[in-house]
Amino acid sequence: MFNFESKNNKVVKVANVASVPQRSPFRYPGGKTWLIPTVRKWLKQSKNELLIEPFAGGGIVSLTAAFESLADKVMMVELDEQVASVWDVIINGDCEWLADKIYGFNLTAESANTAFQKENKTLEDKAFCTILRNRIFHGGILAKGSGLIKSGENGKGLKSRWYPKTLRDRILAINHIKKKLNFQKADGFNILEEEKNNARAVFFIDPPYVKAGRRLYTHYDIDHQRLFALTAELRGKYMLTYDDNEEIRKMIKKYKLDFRLIPMKTTHHVQKNEIIISDNFSWW
Ligand SMILES: C[S@@+](CC[C@H](N)C(=O)[O-])C[C@H]1O[C@@H](n2cnc3c(N)ncnc32)[C@H](O)[C@@H]1O
Repeated sequence: MFNFESKNNKVVKVANVASVPQRSPFRYPGGKTWLIPTVRKWLKQSKNELLIEPFAGGGIVSLTAAFESLADKVMMVELDEQVASVWDVIINGDCEWLADKIYGFNLTAESANTAFQKENKTLEDKAFCTILRNRIFHGGILAKGSGLIKSGENGKGLKSRWYPKTLRDRILAINHIKKKLNFQKADGFNILEEEKNNARAVFFIDPPYVKAGRRLYTHYDIDHQRLFALTAELRGKYMLTYDDNEEIRKMIKKYKLDFRLIPMKTTHHVQKNEIIISDNFSWW
């Protein structure tokens, strides 16, 4: 651990992420594995009946909470059809088919293409193609415009991020605790509206960011004002994360919310601050 003093003199700490098991089958662009030590601290402040993650993506916060019993139940919500198909199959569908398909797949550019071009895909086929794309496209990016890894890491090309056994094991492990998990392919805003008066729910809210979102996600264009307004209305505890910029600072002020800065390193090893907004910081 080390301390870091940010501009407004609010001291934040960065914890070592080596203590965070990788539990998600995704390598998710904008994923929050680096924030897990902080999320653990936040969730441990109370006993939580229900954690709601309205913008689940790779779901590392939901999974950590479920595996480490930091919440009794977890609701994951995601609008993206490709991403949703994976969670739907692992939690509600034929997860073993998916695990076996990944494990037995002989990955080449040709076999991947054949899988992508298959017609009349079942939900399980869609989930498989999503995992495949996420593993063999640059940066794990599933949005339009993303392309195949060429040389890959260590000159291993397409296979540089394809770990069939690890993926199978992660998928089966998640399925094993599926009773704790509830997945909905839905608009996170609708879930926030429905649950805003639920004082027993805690909310981890990680929306597509204002600047980076466009490049990373199919659904990037969200109404940030509305998200701030809804967050300010939540009766349950919450943590909302954002990139640090003028627009976000203005909204924090407008809705009279409290925040801290936390340093993180981007995938390109650039050090920058992100913003954590929460209803209370007694746990910080
Ligand atoms: C920053 S990512 C979440 C990353 C996640 N915290 C992780 O660690 O992997 C934001 C996610 O919100 C999803 N999304 C965008 N608009 C949405 C909406 N209206 N409802 C639900 N999900 C949405 C995107 O598809 C994306 O997966």
